[in-house]
Amino acid sequence: DVINDVMGLSTLQDKVKNKLGIKKVLLVSGSFDSNNSLIKDVARCGAEYFLSVLKDGDIVSITGGSTMLEFANSIKTDKRYNDVTVVPARGSMGTDVEIQSNNIVAITSKKLHSNYKLLNIPDELGEEAMKTLSQEPEIKNTLDYIQKTNVLVFAIGKASEMTKRRKLPEDKVDEIISKGAVGEAFGHYFNEKGEIVYKLNTAGIDLETFKNVEESIAIFAGKRKANALIALSNVNKNIVLVTDEESAKAILEQ
Ligand code: G3H
Repeated sequence: DVINDVMGLSTLQDKVKNKLGIKKVLLVSGSFDSNNSLIKDVARCGAEYFLSVLKDGDIVSITGGSTMLEFANSIKTDKRYNDVTVVPARGSMGTDVEIQSNNIVAITSKKLHSNYKLLNIPDELGEEAMKTLSQEPEIKNTLDYIQKTNVLVFAIGKASEMTKRRKLPEDKVDEIISKGAVGEAFGHYFNEKGEIVYKLNTAGIDLETFKNVEESIAIFAGKRKANALIALSNVNKNIVLVTDEESAKAILEQ
């Protein structure tokens, strides 16, 4: 199916929304793949939508990565959200400090003048260590907040890229990929059908919480992530997608 080049953005939004069966699609015109700086416009679009739904008392969960860092940096508001709490959706993902969710939470919270909680748990821990740590009062407090998330803003990744970035051991990578993982979000790897085939042993948001969040905003740019997003839409339909025009077309072409 060749998509008409002159298709209007709002027509394209409707087509993607209908194909995926999700709540809403917001598009930025242009192509991230031919102009990487478009990520800033996509992130700003996500930030504007986020501010339009944010209300007093909300608990906001935020993930890590370069897309989410752009999101946090593009938040612009004069309002002081004294009654909002921002938390990382999951423990640290063992990447650059700058793109770790804790850092992105701190930036977001500063922009909003909100409260925030950090989650200082390393990536992969043994089960026993994880249990013990999860009961530490400060960590437990943050985990309790995460379970009460009503606004989630997250990025998605291509499974094969994320296993590399997280430096998973080769046998783990093989296991994840051979189980058909195509996408990754908040430490969960899912196949095309939206089944979770593997999850990191990090503490934080789980699938049940994700499915019950009122406002889930997924932000991505780049055609290579199109099938990860399609797969994610099979995990949960209650999401708002923010992406660029070319990636949206890639979704329709799959
Ligand atoms: O889970 C997905 C990744 O956090 C996406 O990271 O925005 O740097 O591509 P990225």
